[in-house]
Amino acid sequence: MRKHIVAGNWKMNCNFNEADELVNGIMEILEEKELPRDTQLIVCPPFPYLEMTSDYANDSYFMVGAQNVSDQEKGAYTGEVSAEMLESMEIDYCIVGHSERRAYYGETNATVAAKVNQLLKHGLKPIVCVGEVLEEREANRQFDVVKQQVEEGLFHLTAEQMKEVVIAYEPVWAIGTGKTATPEQAQEIHHFIRTLLTEKYGKELADEISILYGGSCKPSNAKELFANADVDGGLIGGASLKADDFIAIAMSF
Ligand code: PGA
Repeated sequence: MRKHIVAGNWKMNCNFNEADELVNGIMEILEEKELPRDTQLIVCPPFPYLEMTSDYANDSYFMVGAQNVSDQEKGAYTGEVSAEMLESMEIDYCIVGHSERRAYYGETNATVAAKVNQLLKHGLKPIVCVGEVLEEREANRQFDVVKQQVEEGLFHLTAEQMKEVVIAYEPVWAIGTGKTATPEQAQEIHHFIRTLLTEKYGKELADEISILYGGSCKPSNAKELFANADVDGGLIGGASLKADDFIAIAMSF
């Protein structure tokens, strides 16, 4: 059966010392508290701290993910980081198509598809973000938007490739706003995504894919969100910057 996953997306936060303290804080808590066996914890720091974080990481504690990757293989792309580089550093996961990348850096579903291809080629697991903005929710267009994101970003993959993918549903109106989707709203879209996966790849595969919720997830609401049948964990922004809160969320299954 599919894994529970709690992934911390630090975004562009923490200087080196703060990052070091945060990872240490997570390690210290995990030395005392054991996570449920089927829960995978992932820490996604900014690029410059990946090495430090993966040096600390031990598979029994947490895995490490990047927040972005180039859609190109290698070469003259100043400032970009390739999937091959991440692979050579033994990074396990990478967030793709976060709404902030889509909104501020012009990433399209086609960019997402190209990045997913790069990651899979180099053995990394993509955490692919989808979700509607407020105007789309108000116009009741959330299903169409998410369907298009899932189809255009992922449905070119073979079943074998799809098995490596994690999907994160992040309603953009809930990210960093303190407004969380209700458990019913989250479950409704998660179930919708799983139905799309079932139609395309069959039930067995659809049942194996972890679908995470993201958007103002915190210790006080994680339990009721994670209690839903199709919510397999969370992609955590703000609350992942505090070791206590991050682990409390991971203990919420
Ligand atoms: P938030 O961010 O938890 O701060 O709302 C979630 C995300 O953007 O992944």
